[in-house]
Formats: sequence, C-alpha cells, structure tokens
Amino acid sequence: MATYSQILGTGSYLPVKIVTNYDLEKMLDTSHDWIVERTGIRQRHIAAEHETALMMAECATHQALTAADITPSHIDMIIVATTTPEKLYPSTACLLQQRLGVAGCPAFDLNSTACAGFIYAFSIADQYIRSGTVKTVLVIGSEVMSRVVDWQDRATCVLFGDGAGAVILGAQNKPGVLSTHLHADGTYGDVLAVPIGVGKPVAQYTYMTMKGNQLFKIAVNILGQLFDETLTVNGIHKSEVDWLVPHQANMRIIHGMAKKLAMPLDRVAITLDEQGNTSAASIPLALDKAVRDGRIQRGQLLLLEGFGGGLTWGSALVRY
Ligand code: ACO
Repeated sequence: MATYSQILGTGSYLPVKIVTNYDLEKMLDTSHDWIVERTGIRQRHIAAEHETALMMAECATHQALTAADITPSHIDMIIVATTTPEKLYPSTACLLQQRLGVAGCPAFDLNSTACAGFIYAFSIADQYIRSGTVKTVLVIGSEVMSRVVDWQDRATCVLFGDGAGAVILGAQNKPGVLSTHLHADGTYGDVLAVPIGVGKPVAQYTYMTMKGNQLFKIAVNILGQLFDETLTVNGIHKSEVDWLVPHQANMRIIHGMAKKLAMPLDRVAITLDEQGNTSAASIPLALDKAVRDGRIQRGQLLLLEGFGGGLTWGSALVRY
C-alpha cells in the first residue's frame, strides 16, 4: 500500500512586542497609509533579544506536538527553514534536537531558500515519508527578520516581522500531501539578497537589498504558472481548492493569486496585516492560525505557495 504524508499538527510562536505602522512613522519618513495601501501590513511582531530563531522554533514545536498528540520521541527528522539561524552551525535544527532530547535522528537547516524555505522543507519531508525512510518529520519556519533588515531603509524594514510556525508531518496510507513543486532561477539572484557570507571578508555588516518593483512583477508571473502546474499535475479544477495558504509578502500579490483561483478572500489564510512578512515562517504561521480558529477543517483541500530570494518558489497541494 502506498505511503503518503499527512499534517498531524501545527503550532506557532509570535514575539510579544508589536510594532505598528504608527510606531514606524515616528522613526522613518513613512506613513501608515502608504504601508497599508502598498502592502496591506498594519503591524508586525518584533523579537526581543531572547526571542531567537531557536527559542521561537522550540515554542512552536511544543504546540505542534500537542496538536498532533505525540511526544518528541516520535520525531524521525527535523528540518528548520530559516534565513536567520541561531549560528552558521550547529544548525538551529541540531540545537532544537538537543533541547527536545531526541539525539540520533537527522536534523538540518535550510537557509538559502529564503521565503520559499518552508515549502522546500515541507517537500523534502514529504519525499522522505513517501519513500518509507521515516514516519514523522518536524518541519519548521522560524525567522528574526528584524535582525537582517536595515532599520534606516524604509523600502524594506516596514515589510518584515518575526515569528515561527511548525508542522508535524506523519505517514499515512491515504493523502495527505498530494504533490509538491519546487523551482529556482539563479539569474534573478540580485533581486532580493542579504549579500553577506564567509567567502570574502566583509568591511561591515550588509543588510537586505531588494528590487521590490521587479520582484513584484516576477512573483505574480511565476506564481500564476505554479498554480497551473500544481492543478494540472493533480487533474484538479481550481474550484476544488478550499483554501489558499500563501507566503505573506504583499496583499496585492495575494489578492492577485486569489483572483487567479477565482477564490473569495475569506478562503485565503491571511496574516500579513497583523504579522508582516515573516519569510520562511509565514506559511506555517498562516496555516496554524486558520487551523486553530477553526476555519480550516479536516478533509479540505489546501494550496500552499511560497517564493523568495534565489529566486526560489514552490507549492504543495494538501488534503488536510
Ligand atoms: N514609505 C513611504 N514611501 C516609500 C516607502 C515607505 N516605507 N518605501 C518606498 N517609498 C517610496 C519610494 O521611495 C518611491 O518614491 P519615489 O516615487 O519618490 O521614488 C515610492 O514610494 C514608490 O516606490 P516603489 O518601490 O515603486 O513602490 P511599490 O508600489 O513598488 O511598492 C513594495 C513597494 C511594497 C516593496 C512592492 O514593490 C512590493 O511589495 N514588492 C514585492 C516585494 C516582495 O514580495 N518581497 C518579499 C518577497 S521574498 C521575501 O518574502 C523575502
């Protein structure tokens, strides 16, 4: 009998401190109205010193374990998608594994897939479960974006927030995850970057750079193609999708994608207005919120999509 992966439980963590657009007006040449009109963002959670990618991942994990009704000893693999890891190494996943007391299982971070990191991690977990190699995978997106944005740069810092979301995927004999689709195009590498690394000495810390306008146009184009690919591979009509769970980058992009699926906005899991863009954490955060408040129900069909630096992008079609 074929093996599929199923979402067993979800969890999340958001930093306590909330920074509104009105707070930003006091620090930057910007306005609440500009930010809402161009992005849809009203506020974001910003991490305090102790709220690191690891700490937030651990909190989200405990919620997800409780929701899945399993203990850490059931976990066969840990994948943490983060562009803002605790350290270059040991990975955030290894540090988390140590805290969970489950030494031995594979644990690794996906760093460079940026905002598409959760979808990449989710896809890897699904492949390992389908192949029969493992039974239960902890997949996390955890980000402290506030530490890589330049707080003097109004074009980027207003967009991002911090947080973590976790999903437990487990083996079952019916889907579950129907398919995942991953893509990358390195020729667009300069559109969104944090151009710092260990290959060359750096004179000073370099913050995120983004060609927002160009990225907007590319995102609309690649996400449209991605939806077509995902639905065609599964022989599914767009009207059968119950929920769109998108990466939360810009409300205008999200509205465009909902329109492409002919989907009313109350069928789109949106957290952007309250949380900003939390990069790799945005999809599991949006999923967890809609699951916890009862909007997403068992048996419904979910389309998850993400895009980010690289460029990288991907989707997952999931029977929840
Ligand atoms: N407040 C006020 N004015 C601003 C601000 C601000 N925070 N930021 C930029 N402006 C100004 C610009 O300087 C520019 O002024 P000018 O006309 O005098 O030169 C004007 O607003 C318009 O700037 P644009 O960049 O053309 O504005 P646009 O409508 O494209 O909106 C935005 C910018 C919101 C960044 C949009 O392009 C966008 O969302 N792009 C997609 C970004 C994205 O998806 N990022 C994340 C993807 S990957 C990831 O999640 C890591």
